[in-house]
Amino acid sequence: MPIYGTRPEAIKMVPIVSALRSSAHFECLVAVTGQHRMMLDQVNELFGVIPDFDLNIHKAKQSLNGIMARTLDGIDNILSIHRPDAVVVQGDTTTSTAGAIAAFNHGIPVIHVEAGLRSGDIASPFPEEGNRKVTSQITKLHLAPTALSKDNLIREGISPFDVVVTGNTVIDALLATLDKKVLFEDLRLEQLSAPDSKILLVTTHRRENQGDAMRGVGQAIAEIARREPAVTIVLPVHKNPIVREAVLPPLEGLTNVIVTEPLSYGEFTRLMAMSTIVLTDSGGVQEEAPSLGKPVLVMRENTERPEAVHAGTVKLIGTDPQNIVREVATLFNNSQAFSQMANAVNPYGDGRAAERTVAAIAELFGVGKRMADFESDRLRAVSNPEHPVDVVSVKDNN
Ligand code: UD1
Ligand code: UDP
Repeated sequence: MPIYGTRPEAIKMVPIVSALRSSAHFECLVAVTGQHRMMLDQVNELFGVIPDFDLNIHKAKQSLNGIMARTLDGIDNILSIHRPDAVVVQGDTTTSTAGAIAAFNHGIPVIHVEAGLRSGDIASPFPEEGNRKVTSQITKLHLAPTALSKDNLIREGISPFDVVVTGNTVIDALLATLDKKVLFEDLRLEQLSAPDSKILLVTTHRRENQGDAMRGVGQAIAEIARREPAVTIVLPVHKNPIVREAVLPPLEGLTNVIVTEPLSYGEFTRLMAMSTIVLTDSGGVQEEAPSLGKPVLVMRENTERPEAVHAGTVKLIGTDPQNIVREVATLFNNSQAFSQMANAVNPYGDGRAAERTVAAIAELFGVGKRMADFESDRLRAVSNPEHPVDVVSVKDNN
C-alpha cells in the first residue's frame, strides 16, 4: 500500500505504483491523504492513478500537527480493515512520516523510498530533516536514491543489507514525461518556445524561507526583471497563500514576469527544458534540472542533495536578495560561468529506479531478488561511509 499526499510524493510514487501494478507478485492499493489537494490531484490525473482510498485531509493554512493527526487517524482505520503486507512511503513530508508511524503501530513493515537524505541541520529543511530521520528509525527496507544517501544511513547504524540504492524515481517520471509533447494551456508560455528566448524559471515554497526571506525573494525577482529586460521570468506559484502573500506583491506590473498557477508536470518539465537558468528552493527541481543540463541556483543555506553540487550544475546561494540578483546576473552575462554549470549530469537516476524498487520489495517477501545498486560514476569519488555526512552549505561555496 503506497501512501502519499503531496505533489512531489505523487510524482515520485507514481512510477512505483505502475511497476507494482505490472508485477505478478503484488496487489497494490493506493492510499492518498490529500495533504495537498489541487497539486496532488493534478499529478494523479496526469498519470491516470485513481486512489483506492482518499482521506481528503486538506485544509487552508493547515498546521503540521493537524496534518499528522488527521493522517494517523484516517490511515489507522484503513490499515485495520485492509491489513496490507507492507506500506510504501516516500520522502520526508508530514504525510510520509505519519503514514510510516501508522504502519509501524500496526506492526506492518515500512518501505521508505528516497531514504537517507540528510542536510545535517534539524532546522533546515524544517520539518523535513526531522521527518526523514524519524521514518528511518522505523523502516524495514530503505530505498536510497544514491550511494551517498546509503552511506548516511549506514553511519546512523542501519544495516547495509537493509538498504538498496535504486536511483530516484523522479528521473523515471521525468524521462517518461519528456517524451510526451504537451502544449501549454497558458499561451504566454507557448510564445516563449522560440529557441533564442532567455528564460529564468523560479519556484519557491520552503517553510523555513517563509516570511522575510521569501519577501526578499520577491524583491530579488523584481530587481532581476528590471535589470534584465530581455529575460522572461516565469514563476509557477505554489498554492500556499503564505507564499503568495510574500512573493507576489513586488512583481505587480512587471511585463517580463509571468506568474502562473502550478503547472501540470508535463508543462513544468517542458518549461524546465526550455529554460536558461533555474532558481529554486525545491528538492525535486534540484534533482531534475541537472539531467536537462540547466544551471540551478538554490535559494537555501544547505542541501541534502550534494551530488549535483559536486557535479557543478547546482550552486547554493542562500536567500539574501542582493546575492540572488548578483548570482543570476553572473550566469546571464558571463558565458564562461554559464557553460561551467550547464552540463547534463545524472547523479540521481537512470530511469530504472521503480524497477529496482519493486525488485527489492520482491526480495523482502521472498519472491524475487534485488537488482544491482544504481551507481553514478560521478558519485564514487565523494562517497565514503567513513567520513562525516557529505552535506554542502552556502559557506562551502564562497
Ligand atoms: C509540503 C511538504 C514539503 C514539500 C511540499 C511540496 C510537509 C511538512 N511539507 O509543504 O516537504 O516540499 O509540500 O510542495 O509535509 N495548498 C493548497 N492546495 C494545494 C496544496 C497546498 O491550497 O494543492 C495550500 C494550503 O493552504 C496549505 C498550504 O498550501 O495549508 C501548505 O501546504 P502544506 O502541505 O501544509 O505544506 P507545503 O508547504 O506545501
Ligand atoms: N512541479 C510541477 N509543477 C509546478 C512546479 C513544480 O509539476 O508548477 C514539479 C517539479 O517538476 C518537481 C516537483 O513538482 O518534480 C517539486 O515539487 P515541490 O517543489 O513542490 O516540492 P519539493 O520537491 O521541494 O518537495
